[in-house]
Amino acid sequence: MCGIVGYTGTEAAKDILIDGLKRLEYRGYDSAGVALERAEAASASGCALDIHRRVGKVAGLESELACLDTASTCGIGHTRWATHGRPSVPNAHPHTSCDGRIAIVHNGIIENFAELREELERRGHRFASDTDTEVFAHLIEEAYEGRPADPATGEQAAPGCHDLLAAVREACAHVVGAYGLAAVCADEPGVIAVARKDSPIIIGRGEHGSYVASDVIAVIDATRDVVVLEDGQFARLAPEGITYTDADGAAIEPAVTHIDWDIDMAEKGGYPDFMLKEILEQPRVVRDTLVGRMGPAGELDIDELGLSLEELNLIDRVYVIACGTSYHAGLIAKNLIEGWARIPCEVEAASEFRYRNPIITPSTLVVAVSQSGETADTLAAIRDARIKGAKVFGITNVVGSPVARESDGVIYTKANKEIAVASTKSFIGQVVSLTLLALLLAQVKYRLTVGQVRMLFRELGDTAEQIQWILDTQTDAIHAAAEACCDAHSALFVGRGMGAAIANEGALKLKEISYLHAEAYAAGEMKHGPIALIDPGFPVIAVATKSPVYDKTVSNLKECEARGAKIIVVATEGDEDIREIADHVIYIPAVRDAFSAITATVPLQLLAREVALMRGCDVDQPRNLAKSVTVE
Ligand code: M6R
Repeated sequence: MCGIVGYTGTEAAKDILIDGLKRLEYRGYDSAGVALERAEAASASGCALDIHRRVGKVAGLESELACLDTASTCGIGHTRWATHGRPSVPNAHPHTSCDGRIAIVHNGIIENFAELREELERRGHRFASDTDTEVFAHLIEEAYEGRPADPATGEQAAPGCHDLLAAVREACAHVVGAYGLAAVCADEPGVIAVARKDSPIIIGRGEHGSYVASDVIAVIDATRDVVVLEDGQFARLAPEGITYTDADGAAIEPAVTHIDWDIDMAEKGGYPDFMLKEILEQPRVVRDTLVGRMGPAGELDIDELGLSLEELNLIDRVYVIACGTSYHAGLIAKNLIEGWARIPCEVEAASEFRYRNPIITPSTLVVAVSQSGETADTLAAIRDARIKGAKVFGITNVVGSPVARESDGVIYTKANKEIAVASTKSFIGQVVSLTLLALLLAQVKYRLTVGQVRMLFRELGDTAEQIQWILDTQTDAIHAAAEACCDAHSALFVGRGMGAAIANEGALKLKEISYLHAEAYAAGEMKHGPIALIDPGFPVIAVATKSPVYDKTVSNLKECEARGAKIIVVATEGDEDIREIADHVIYIPAVRDAFSAITATVPLQLLAREVALMRGCDVDQPRNLAKSVTVE
């Protein structure tokens, strides 16, 4: 996703920015840009800013800059992962004020950008992009240069502060949302002003100057002593040093953290593997996927759908088509779409769907789910469904991917780039996105009231903290459960209802990274065959959270217990009775059954990782597997 780097000092800023942007490439992005102070134009009253932006890889920007003969020693750079506005040069960062004398780069989302833009346009500002970010450039400009009177609101004109950092602080006071921000101003050569709220920013001082970045990886060659800026803190970087303030402008002295990771670890954010890093990011994925989705009147907002509410209201059949983990997200969605919207929903492996002759009419909605957005089977199924007349809606993590391009509408999961082959955070992003879709369908079909949708939306958001609770409190229990099954030859994952859908994902995670054979079964089906597998010590991993089918699941587990199975249960916090049959219990917080997949999957991801590590496997790059499966 988006990345920021900035430098001011005595060396060539161009090279430092390009190097930093390349280091940020792993996050995934669709365009890149830099703002460089034009040293040649510097005078007592300031300098000029050169803006260079390109769609595509940093290498393209690098080629463009290679022709630029500049002695600039101060600049900011950005890699953009599109949220508001398609990938394009005008939407790429840096964005500038009307007169081009202030330039900014921004990570995060400005929730009130539409109203801010309207106000700013009314006061004469001209916008050059579709982004939420651009409002920041104009807000800073007003604070710096002065604001005209606003007849619409009766606000008086205000004088400018002519201080970049003070102007950034003033602008931030108007913004609702998340930001990591770096700004430069032609009137203050060598100065970079920085702000942070809910989007990471680190700042460091090296031998040749001062650095800012959204990820330590971008500056680790220059400095290992960094300040991790906290929400509401601001910084002013200059060649001679860095000063910090709080939101009121009072000086502060944040603690310095010494980074002792190597480059490999830095790319992994200091974690031993990408899989763990990505699992730990899941609370953020939930939050980011929900940002901006609830309108002021309590109505859901998914305008990328490409379908009007009237068209959605006519939908009478849904197919979810996907592969692997994405298919499992579809199994969760089926429960929600049928349960809330009362629309029949089938989930099919894309590789099967494309060779069947499914019943498709103009009122059929096909939802194609794909993390990579380029899975060959899913793409072929999309094409087939569109030829047959279905509306196709894509859910993908990759902006501009074939799934996004070939669908009528698309929701981007806000997982950021996923590097580990085993999907974890993208699954959570998919389930949250599909949950939004199910709520929207229920809303347009008048199956749920606005009040019910609002309440469910709030509870959906609560899963972010619930995941965090699991990550904070259950690692010992998961480790003990992993030790109990790491030497097995095979394992069964069971559950009922939502639990059965979750069991599928648990089994896939375990087999793909630990090479331990694992199958998922609806717990009630055990007695129809699979129970024959159970002998003393055979691991049975169950999802038995407090749900309408809890008692039934427990009965099925007793049948396994009676045959000597080693039973590991994902249960609801406070359920002590389950310990009577379980050898190991991993708790999740109490959660509505509809949202249990978002939380109960997390311990199963961690369990699979622990088992794989105990078996000496490479959890990020399992044998025989690829991150994108672009062949049939
Ligand atoms: O990129 P996609 O979501 O379309 O990929 C589908 C599957 O190949 C993918 O989910 C695969 O099963 C993962 N390795 C699961 O962790």
